[in-house]
Amino acid sequence: MSVGVTNRNRGKTVGATILPIANQKGGVGKTTTALSLGAALVRLKKKVLVVDLDPHANASIHMAFFPEKLKYTVLDLFLSKGPEPDIWDRIIYPDKGSGFDFVPSHIRLSELEVDLKDKPGKGLILHKALEAVSSEYDYILLDCPPHVGIILVNALVAGDLLIIPIQTDFLALHGVRLIFDTIRTLSKALGRPIRFRALATMYDQRASACRRVLDILTKKMPDRLFKSVISMDTKFREASAQGQVIFDIDPKCSGAKQYLQLAKEIIAHENS
Ligand SMILES: Nc1ncnc2c1ncn2[C@@H]1O[C@H](COP(=O)(O)OP(=O)(O)OP(=O)(O)O)[C@@H](O)[C@H]1O
Ligand SMILES: [Mg+2]
Repeated sequence: MSVGVTNRNRGKTVGATILPIANQKGGVGKTTTALSLGAALVRLKKKVLVVDLDPHANASIHMAFFPEKLKYTVLDLFLSKGPEPDIWDRIIYPDKGSGFDFVPSHIRLSELEVDLKDKPGKGLILHKALEAVSSEYDYILLDCPPHVGIILVNALVAGDLLIIPIQTDFLALHGVRLIFDTIRTLSKALGRPIRFRALATMYDQRASACRRVLDILTKKMPDRLFKSVISMDTKFREASAQGQVIFDIDPKCSGAKQYLQLAKEIIAHENS
């Protein structure tokens, strides 16, 4: 199996682009972005793997993978004692209709900090493991937990382009500083910049507060903000209640169209 990631900074040209989706603030649309962007990329004929790295397993439960009923989850990858070339065969669950393959999470991931306490290179586990599966996908999306820790570090180290969903809300704006602090600290430790783009989510055109927040984001990070903006859409909650992705609920709704637009923007960005 060939090895590689599409990251010009690392001089590699073959294999998946790895997109961690992270923000230390909770409830800003990380899981919704992982699943909806994953499904949008599939609609653009891309091969996609979505990995749930949040111990709360919201993405897994949304996609009807119930971790307590599963023999293998992403936890096995982190607790693996040595190189296990066939680990992905066990933890990847094939597409159930969403169009993408999926690696479910496990509640025990929340104890990983303790489990890996003395393990050398513990921040590189995911990066190294992904090399074995990278060539099989165009995009690998990592749904991250809403806190700093060894899982977030693994995701940022493995990632090619970090996507930071930012809710267009004043309180959410305050939380953004935390993720930028983490990016700065990790960039220093890695000796390379972490590439990222922010994504405005849950935008309500009618609310002046939302418009003001979007205005601030646009002015503060003109080159680091996706042009695509994700609006408020009740279809997202409907999709999760039905265990489906938004395209299966209503491919013409604003949420579906905007994530498709985002997918096109990401593909264009990678090709530019
Ligand atoms: N654009 C949107 N419009 C309306 N509802 C949305 C939108 N995006 C997400 N939601 C809803 O908001 C809630 C939180 O979204 P989501 O679970 O994606 O956030 P999260 O950042 O992953 O949260 P956590 O930090 O808890 O993991 C969910 O109920 C989801 O369906
Ligand atoms: Mg989530």
